[in-house]
Amino acid sequence: MREKIAILLDEIHRFEAESKDQLEAFRIKYLSKKGLIPALFDNFKQVLPEERKEIGKLLNELKQKAQEIIELQQECFAETTQKKIKIDTSLPAITFSGGRHPLSIVRREINSIFERQGFVIAEGPEIEDDFHNFSALNFPADHPARDMQDTFFIHKYPDVALRTHTSSVQVRVMEQGKLPVRIIAPGRVFRNEAISARAHCIFHQVEGLYIDKDVSFADLKQTLYYFAREFFGVETKIRFRPSYFPFTETSAEMDVSCNICGGKGCNICKYSGWVEILGCGMVDPNVLEACGIDSNIYSGYAFGMGIERITMMKYQINDLRLFFENDLRFLKQFETLV
Ligand code: DAH
Repeated sequence: MREKIAILLDEIHRFEAESKDQLEAFRIKYLSKKGLIPALFDNFKQVLPEERKEIGKLLNELKQKAQEIIELQQECFAETTQKKIKIDTSLPAITFSGGRHPLSIVRREINSIFERQGFVIAEGPEIEDDFHNFSALNFPADHPARDMQDTFFIHKYPDVALRTHTSSVQVRVMEQGKLPVRIIAPGRVFRNEAISARAHCIFHQVEGLYIDKDVSFADLKQTLYYFAREFFGVETKIRFRPSYFPFTETSAEMDVSCNICGGKGCNICKYSGWVEILGCGMVDPNVLEACGIDSNIYSGYAFGMGIERITMMKYQINDLRLFFENDLRFLKQFETLV
């Protein structure tokens, strides 16, 4: 009797039903009136009186185990059938919880401010050739300005690189020849720089370009003034300083009055009251010509700014690396913004 119980117990333990029918067959085999376990109970009368206590206990345990296994496996099948019924394809999708990345928030805001002024979004590839990233933008070969950009070249292809600025999109748009042009190009750029609180090898820029007849520096100033007031607040002042970029002539850098101290002087603006936010200028006639545009008829302006930089200014973030670490304690602070 003891061996029989042990054999059945072993069989029961190893049983795994693959279907409801198999489970029912198992129940019939072991627990139905004519099943193996009731048969053992029938034989119980033959057990010697001194062994009855122990054998009785083992028998009860066997029965209990068989019942338990059936119940447990029944649950599995019940669950899958229930799940099948629960799928209702007409239900609205589950809403995603979480927020936008601060760089996305700012990029969307910049896009919106320029879209309101008639600009449309343009895109270009992140892997660029020398012509679009440099030559067409009036960087002569061996010109020291190329060194300023710490380019990542593609191994074995000296002509192919990761774009170092979104100015390459200017060229891509202009060479299509559809005038006038009024675009902004937000995107990722790459430079071989050591990562620190103020620099990263991947960052984001927005390029702006307007080409038409009779475009002047005054148009550029007005467009950027509108941007600065919309983005940093109506009290914001702007100023332009002369600068140099190969692709613009005249070239300038634009500062905004410090949005932290309102221009009085603080450690963010290094007590000057001003913070530099972008480079800009009138598109150099050489660039227009390289893109097939007659510089005697058309003129234009361009500008470029770093998204990280103005995001740091707007939200008083002091370490650029935070944007790339995906630390939820940082990201959650932007959850409520759109
Ligand atoms: N491409 C420049 C850079 O990455 C930024 C820039 C400066 C863009 C002046 C412009 C411009 O369009 O006119 O540093």
